[in-house]
Amino acid sequence: MLLGHFSELTEHIDIKVKSSVLGLVPTMGALHEGHLSLIKKAHMECDKVIVSIFVNPTQFNNPDDLTKYPRTLDQDLDAINSVSKDVLVYVPTVEEIYPEGAEAEHFEFGTISKFMEGEYRQGHFDGVGTVLKRLFEVINPDRAYFGEKDFQQLAVVRKLIEITGQNVSIIGCETFRENNGLAKSSRNKLLTLEEKEQAGIIFENLKYIKSNFRDKPLLEILEKVKNNFEDSPLFNLEYCEVADEKDLIPAKKIESDKNYRAFIAAYCNNVRLIDNMSLN
Ligand code: PAJ
Repeated sequence: MLLGHFSELTEHIDIKVKSSVLGLVPTMGALHEGHLSLIKKAHMECDKVIVSIFVNPTQFNNPDDLTKYPRTLDQDLDAINSVSKDVLVYVPTVEEIYPEGAEAEHFEFGTISKFMEGEYRQGHFDGVGTVLKRLFEVINPDRAYFGEKDFQQLAVVRKLIEITGQNVSIIGCETFRENNGLAKSSRNKLLTLEEKEQAGIIFENLKYIKSNFRDKPLLEILEKVKNNFEDSPLFNLEYCEVADEKDLIPAKKIESDKNYRAFIAAYCNNVRLIDNMSLN
């Protein structure tokens, strides 16, 4: 069922019996199987599920990226219905989310928002924090579902809850991939078939890091990844880092008692793709 306003939302949330569990899956639409895997998990674990679809202007640091962002509401509704007709879909307007204008609040997320996405997309996580704080406020879910595909975002959301004190359990969900390992993403719709096939390079290099990071010097491994991308004319590597999973500070060398994760961001033409992999 499609809901456009807070009032309609409130009406439906009020229906929930006192002890029931309300799950929220926040999205920006252009839904794919990655999103659907979150919705399915929420549907299995919660009594009522709300999917929000909102292309959040305050988290785009590049206006062109915001304009180009795919918008496919009718297909999204069909896809959600295919999971379950009971899922509520909330599609607010910018005015409804930002009655006083689309401005991001600043949050002190600490080191987790400083590097990688935080470094290359200035202000991005403040925008993400602002919209999620608002969605949690209005919907008041018991649980909210996020993909590990955006691992740094997942860490930021956990921190956001700590900062705001909002009482939501944050559930991390595995990355859903294409056959060649490319993480499903709304932005994949902007790639040609050929580009999509070649974009397996990201997953291949994450696997290369995983197989080698305990045996070879980290800087040598990162250099090799850089060279692999330079040899591939369709792709431009923005960053490749191995970071401590806890503080998300990029490592210069590997310490045996820490858990690490590898992160890659790369452009294919103007399409920005990100992915990561646990090295544990
Ligand atoms: P969006 O990119 O639409 O992603 C919505 C959710 O789906 C995020 O939690 C994301 O990590 C997850 N997701 C995307 N691709 C996935 C994949 N291949 N496998 C598993 N999960 C995947 O992330 C956002 O929107 C926004 O920043 C948002 C949190 C909605 C705030 O505006």
